[in-house]
Amino acid sequence: MVETPTSSPSNWWRNHHHNRRWTTFFSTQKTLFTALCLGLFLTVFYWQRDFTGGFLVFRFDFPSRQFPKLRPFAFNLTDFGAVGDGVTLNTAAFERAVMKISKLGKKGGGQLNVPPGNWLTAPFNLTSHMTLFLAEGAVILGIDNEKYWPLMPPLPSYGYGREHPGPRYGSLIHGQNLKDVVITGHNGTINGQGQTWWKKYRQKLLNHTRGPLVQIMWSSDILISNITLRDSPFWTLHPYDCKNVTITNLTILAPISEAPNTDGIDPDSCEDMVIEDCYISVGDDGVAIKSGWDQYGIAYGRPSKNILIRNVVVRSKVSAGISIGSEMSGGVSNVTIENLHVWDSRRAVRIKTAPGRGGYVRDIKYQNLTFDNVRVGIVIKTDYNEHPDEHYDPKAVPILEDISYTSIHGEGVRVPVRIQGSEEIFVSNVTFRDMSVGITYVKKHIFQCAFVEGRVIGTVFPAPCENLDLYDERGNLIRRSVSQNVSDIDYSF
Ligand SMILES: *[C@@H]1O[C@H](CO)[C@@H](O)[C@H](O)[C@H]1NC(C)=O
Ligand SMILES: *[C@@H]1O[C@H](CO)[C@@H](O)[C@H](O)[C@H]1NC(C)=O
Ligand SMILES: *[C@@H]1O[C@H](CO)[C@@H](O)[C@H](O)[C@H]1NC(C)=O
Ligand SMILES: *[C@@H]1O[C@H](CO)[C@@H](O)[C@H](O)[C@H]1NC(C)=O
Ligand SMILES: *[C@@H]1O[C@H](CO)[C@@H](O)[C@H](O)[C@H]1NC(C)=O
Ligand SMILES: *[C@@H]1O[C@H](CO)[C@@H](O)[C@H](O)[C@H]1NC(C)=O
Ligand SMILES: *[C@@H]1O[C@H](CO)[C@@H](O)[C@H](O)[C@H]1NC(C)=O
Ligand SMILES: *[C@@H]1O[C@H](CO)[C@@H](O)[C@H](O)[C@H]1NC(C)=O
Ligand SMILES: *[C@@H]1O[C@H](CO)[C@@H](O)[C@H](O)[C@H]1NC(C)=O
Ligand SMILES: *[C@@H]1O[C@H](CO)[C@@H](O)[C@H](O)[C@H]1NC(C)=O
Ligand SMILES: *[C@@H]1O[C@H](CO)[C@@H](O)[C@H](O)[C@H]1NC(C)=O
Repeated sequence: MVETPTSSPSNWWRNHHHNRRWTTFFSTQKTLFTALCLGLFLTVFYWQRDFTGGFLVFRFDFPSRQFPKLRPFAFNLTDFGAVGDGVTLNTAAFERAVMKISKLGKKGGGQLNVPPGNWLTAPFNLTSHMTLFLAEGAVILGIDNEKYWPLMPPLPSYGYGREHPGPRYGSLIHGQNLKDVVITGHNGTINGQGQTWWKKYRQKLLNHTRGPLVQIMWSSDILISNITLRDSPFWTLHPYDCKNVTITNLTILAPISEAPNTDGIDPDSCEDMVIEDCYISVGDDGVAIKSGWDQYGIAYGRPSKNILIRNVVVRSKVSAGISIGSEMSGGVSNVTIENLHVWDSRRAVRIKTAPGRGGYVRDIKYQNLTFDNVRVGIVIKTDYNEHPDEHYDPKAVPILEDISYTSIHGEGVRVPVRIQGSEEIFVSNVTFRDMSVGITYVKKHIFQCAFVEGRVIGTVFPAPCENLDLYDERGNLIRRSVSQNVSDIDYSF
């Protein structure tokens, strides 16, 4: 399962390789004989494929794959004057295409096909009832000069640009108040060329918060699938206050270090959302579920809820595989995370918050998690004291409750569990069942707890902290904890 993003043994790579080889072959050997041989081969190939399905391991499509027709009207980006040379700026072409499609909503909408090539553009908006389809080898390249990036007001639930007060840069691909939007393809790429942005950020040359790669706000019925997102200036995919969002079969990549804030997916005040079959290797959290920041998030009051994350592989060298928070002031509830594989990461699954946030994190179910070489596996942290401004209310304390961890496995983990409640933010009703995590070295206090109430059912390895009640496999109480509040937290490893 473990693979580096650059050496992934994908079908795509093999297909591409074969295509290239055949193209070269065809253009250099122009004899009738060759053509006949090729014709014969293709006939046999298609015949075999039709009759035996998965007969050939290196299944490739030749000539290059056609665009499927997913809407009543389809357009080619080149129809609008775009040039895919990586140098020509195609913003106007994208805008013309979107304008055209925006008039087709009543007729079922339109599809914009992006052929192979490097399509440089400044940020542009999507429209409702639109499908953006990226061919294999199609790359939408974000221009890395901030002068081309429009500024927008801060998100209402953050009251702040996140890095700087005041306006923030919009996203490369943006949408507001939309319905029925699809971004998909044959694994084409949206590339934010974040390198310039990360460098300017580190050198403190930017006066506004960097823009996400794809940000869809106040929208519903969104599907994003079968593409690659890479090198975002800031968060990669940010659905904000959206409903019914499906994210499936994405590859999300950014350098694993020195690519600040390149979270993979940030569901923010969203409900009814699925994230599945994704591979994420980025410079910050793989997924971070949020719902606004301190007093602004409390006032906005829109939770993230009914979220399912499954069959996801994540690497986050500097942060966590899946996070909830730290901005969670609108509340987060009913989240299921299953069949998750976190490798080579600092933290695997984490809930982070602080006094001032308000809100709640409740009804969170983790199931079948595999940790492979992570420093701290399960984390709940209640002192993540980063605030938008001085005016937050320190008495607004979040509620953390009803959190379960079932079937947790792995190896190479230093600290399998660190649940750090506090006197103000007590962590209630935590359940562990079926856990066995291979640890890197044996030390006491590696299942660390403070101010937490809950239970361990059946056998759990390593031995749980004394804060939790013990039950046997059949659910009979063995020992009730009398020390829920003792602190076993040791940050030295
Ligand atoms: C899609 O492309 C990315 C980047 O080129 C690659 O890492 C990934 O394996 C490809 N995905 C599939 C399913 O072919
Ligand atoms: C799109 O336009 C380009 C350039 O005109 C052309 O090469 C390509 O075949 C077109 N693709 C489709 C699907 O029409
Ligand atoms: C894109 O959408 C935003 C928000 O609706 C709007 O402010 C901006 O003017 C739009 N940009 C263009 C080029 O239409
Ligand atoms: C995932 O995407 C790749 C590349 O586009 C495609 O070959 C594969 O069939 C997709 N898998 C699923 C389950 O949709
Ligand atoms: C940031 O602001 C300073 C002072 O107003 C200005 O000189 C500089 O050009 C600005 N930088 C950017 C990237 O806008
Ligand atoms: C959710 O969105 C999808 C399109 O992505 C649509 O087919 C489906 O009907 C929507 N579901 C609901 C309950 O609205
Ligand atoms: C993803 O791609 C595969 C292969 O092309 C296709 O069968 C599937 O329907 C696509 N899935 C979505 C959700 O777009
Ligand atoms: C919880 O979320 C799931 C989707 O992950 C949904 O099917 C279920 O109805 C939600 N439960 C409640 C009580 O809303
Ligand atoms: C657990 O998750 C892994 C992927 O991390 C998957 O391969 C395995 O089938 C899952 N097990 C069950 C019982 O669902
Ligand atoms: C504790 O959490 C579990 C889910 O993990 C839930 O089923 C149960 O009702 C909760 N117990 C209480 C007393 O709220
Ligand atoms: C543990 O701390 C919580 C929250 O501060 C408090 O409500 C509770 O009474 C304490 N329990 C014990 C046994 O001291």
